[in-house]
Amino acid sequence: MNWHKMDAIIETPRLRLRHFVESDLDAVAALMANPDFMRFSRGVFAREEAKRFLLDRLIAPTRQCLPSQFAVITQEEKRLIGYCGLFRQVVDEISEIEIGYRLHPAYWNRGLATEAARAVRDYGFDVLELERVISLIHPDNHASRRVAEKVGMRLEKETTFRGFPTLVFSHRREVRVMSRSNLVNPP
Ligand SMILES: CC(C)(COP(=O)(O)OP(=O)(O)OC[C@H]1O[C@@H](n2cnc3c(N)ncnc32)[C@H](O)[C@@H]1OP(=O)(O)O)[C@@H](O)C(=O)NCCC(=O)NCCS
Repeated sequence: MNWHKMDAIIETPRLRLRHFVESDLDAVAALMANPDFMRFSRGVFAREEAKRFLLDRLIAPTRQCLPSQFAVITQEEKRLIGYCGLFRQVVDEISEIEIGYRLHPAYWNRGLATEAARAVRDYGFDVLELERVISLIHPDNHASRRVAEKVGMRLEKETTFRGFPTLVFSHRREVRVMSRSNLVNPP
């Protein structure tokens, strides 16, 4: 696993994914003050909490060459509308890499989270050579469950994570590679 490749920029048809920088604070603070953006989390963050999150959870892992989140920027407006990327998590005492995503509600239901998460999945499998990625989702979060399915994840189990009932969706590289090679090169 080569986390030293974590300085990437990922382009998709509608999005540019790049790493976070300190000057993203205004955009991140505005997003984290929005209750819909923060749905299925601990709730909205004040500016100081958002600053800590930006520095400790979004920027520091990138600089330490650890799995990290990308700022999601629209190609058209060049607006920072959320984040999507990789978090290291310990689930049922197993170390896992999670694909996480969170977008401004004005951009929901256009397929953007799926577009970002698929690009992050491919980056994880093809560049970082991850064997497996997961998503941790509250059972009532139907939009997120749908995104996980569209990214190719399958429900693996239900557990308790940080005190909350949580569905673990997972995806293995070999499964994605097989389905791809089936498409490109049918047996
Ligand atoms: C989850 C989230 C990232 C999805 O972003 P998005 O850009 O709207 O996702 P997409 O448009 O790619 O896909 C959403 C899918 O969920 C479906 N959906 C949306 N709301 C739904 C609901 N209440 N019930 C069932 N399906 C729903 C959409 O119809 C779409 O599926 P489809 O393409 O089959 O029609 C966004 O809602 C969000 O940021 N929510 C708050 C934060 C969050 O919950 N993050 C995930 C934590 S695990």
